[in-house]
Amino acid sequence: MKLAIIGGSLLKELGALSTIAEERINTPFGTPSAHFVTGMIDGVEVIYTNRHGTAHQIAPHQINYKANIFVLKTLEVTDIIAVTAVGGISQAMSPMQWVVPDQIIDYTHGRLQTYNDVNDSQVNHIDFTYPFDEDLRVRLLSALDNQVSEYQMKATYGVTQGPRLETIAEIRRMQQDGCDIVGMTVMPEAGLARELEMNYATLSLVVNWAAGKGDGSLISMDEIREHIKDGNKIAEKIINGVVSSI
Ligand code: HPA
Repeated sequence: MKLAIIGGSLLKELGALSTIAEERINTPFGTPSAHFVTGMIDGVEVIYTNRHGTAHQIAPHQINYKANIFVLKTLEVTDIIAVTAVGGISQAMSPMQWVVPDQIIDYTHGRLQTYNDVNDSQVNHIDFTYPFDEDLRVRLLSALDNQVSEYQMKATYGVTQGPRLETIAEIRRMQQDGCDIVGMTVMPEAGLARELEMNYATLSLVVNWAAGKGDGSLISMDEIREHIKDGNKIAEKIINGVVSSI
């Protein structure tokens, strides 16, 4: 198993990683978001990259997901843990809850979402019944069990286009659809990883109530930043826990 971690707003870097190599790699699909750092945690080789770029300059709809995921494949990664900050829709998904989602509804549009767009070969459809890898989910859940007193073992992650947050009506519709949390980055990331036959799961931290949830007040960006700051150290411990299970 060769593990890669994709960080985002949460886990902007992986402090525990003792760096062996840091490479910027180009692909037939263009330039990836950031460097790919290869390093060791507890004697296990791990690769880290950040989907928003090193200066957090790339918005969710502008990320070159195809390049990022392609590089991980060329680095012979077999398993990907994506760390994501999300809004909470269902009652249990309150700020600072850790969540390991098990389903996805994709509301994004206009993103390059497949490697199956070269019309000179047979189209390959992928099975996506279970979008997240169950073995990785179990590893995340047991690492969470050692780190936090409460966490959510299942959730449907609704992926919105961003970069703006949602309206109350949009969140109400998402709740009716069955979404428990809302974020902007798991698709097309998860689908592309499946196309290239890499296992993928996401560790989510709820950093705000989604629009109209909680006490219904406006969403404070300062509060989101505070929650992300508080979550970073714990996220790192959870990742270390997963690594020690390898
Ligand atoms: N909506 C969409 N994406 C998010 C949110 C949200 O409320 N919070 C963090 N990422």
